Amino acid sequence: MAHVWTGIIREYMDRMPFDADDRIVSLGEGGTPLIHAATISSMVGAEVFVKYEGMNPTGSFKDRGMTSAITQVVKDGDHTVVCASTGNTSASAAAYAAHAGLKCVVMIPQGKIAAGKMAQAIVHGAKLVQVDGNFDECLDIVRALSEDYPVALVNSVNPYRLQGQKTAAFEIVDQLGDAPDIHMLPVGNAGNISAYWMGFNEYADAGLATKRPKIWGLQAEGSAPFVQGHPIKDPETIATAIRIGKPASWDLAIAARDESGGWIRAVSDDAILRAQAMLAADVGVFVEPASAAPIAGLLAASAAGEVPKGATITCTVTGNGLKDTATALGGREVDPEVIPVDVAAAAQALGL
Ligand code: F0G
Repeated sequence: MAHVWTGIIREYMDRMPFDADDRIVSLGEGGTPLIHAATISSMVGAEVFVKYEGMNPTGSFKDRGMTSAITQVVKDGDHTVVCASTGNTSASAAAYAAHAGLKCVVMIPQGKIAAGKMAQAIVHGAKLVQVDGNFDECLDIVRALSEDYPVALVNSVNPYRLQGQKTAAFEIVDQLGDAPDIHMLPVGNAGNISAYWMGFNEYADAGLATKRPKIWGLQAEGSAPFVQGHPIKDPETIATAIRIGKPASWDLAIAARDESGGWIRAVSDDAILRAQAMLAADVGVFVEPASAAPIAGLLAASAAGEVPKGATITCTVTGNGLKDTATALGGREVDPEVIPVDVAAAAQALGL
């Protein structure tokens, strides 16, 4: 009989801070595909796989962290969760809060989150407030709120978030049979890079992987505090998910970079959009712009002759392209020809 996936907490219960008696809040997150990218592999001379996190219940990797964060909130007996977000965290928090019967309140940077993500938070019943500021300022507000009011913070500064998100590294090792040589992912608030490093280490320490990957992180050029070496005040990028200047998990991300012998670099918005189009057209995976940053970074590393021949490289593509169709379609023909109900006209229009 096929194994039916039960969500990351139940699947990895022995490595999670919960036990079978806990009321687990799950929408079946995790168990996402690791897809071989043949064209990109031959372009860079390595074996490249994408971990398709857009397949999660709300369309991003945040669900891995939200199942564990919200499970703990329920355990603690809290009734309201709060988060700041560039869109995906709020979509996920709203969905898991709805499932658990909790209230959810969200601070977002005004006009800077993709329409699909905004729709998710609204339809899941969250109370949304736009802030005339950026994500970093929204995070400052919700941190203060969680100290002074009875609301539980579910941003990745909540340690239960990283506990859930580390399971993506477990899955990659389980899917490949060992750790990859290099793991690549976008870096924004820096929770995920920290969680992956935790997960790869945990598996290696337990003897479930023979090695630990180098971690290669990617930021957008206009929002690259790790590349600059300090927080930046006015981050800007088309990849709004990672439009972040003051990452909360700064030290953990630096540790992931340095202990793994990896790096964190930046790619331009144009390179991100080209990589997004390539993933869609060559791999069949539609991602949001931030998620394409690792592929843009991989192509740049390859052009610089820095990709080891034949290496196994995994790239987390963090969010689903359906969340932000406006950016993906920008500059494209979106008004296909209209024809009468006629086979000959169809054949002609299609150039057959
Ligand atoms: N990719 C996507 C699609 C994201 O939504 C985020 C973060 C990241 C990458 C970066 O991950 O913050 O752990 O370094 N989005 C957060 C949000 C900030 O509010 O949805 P990170």
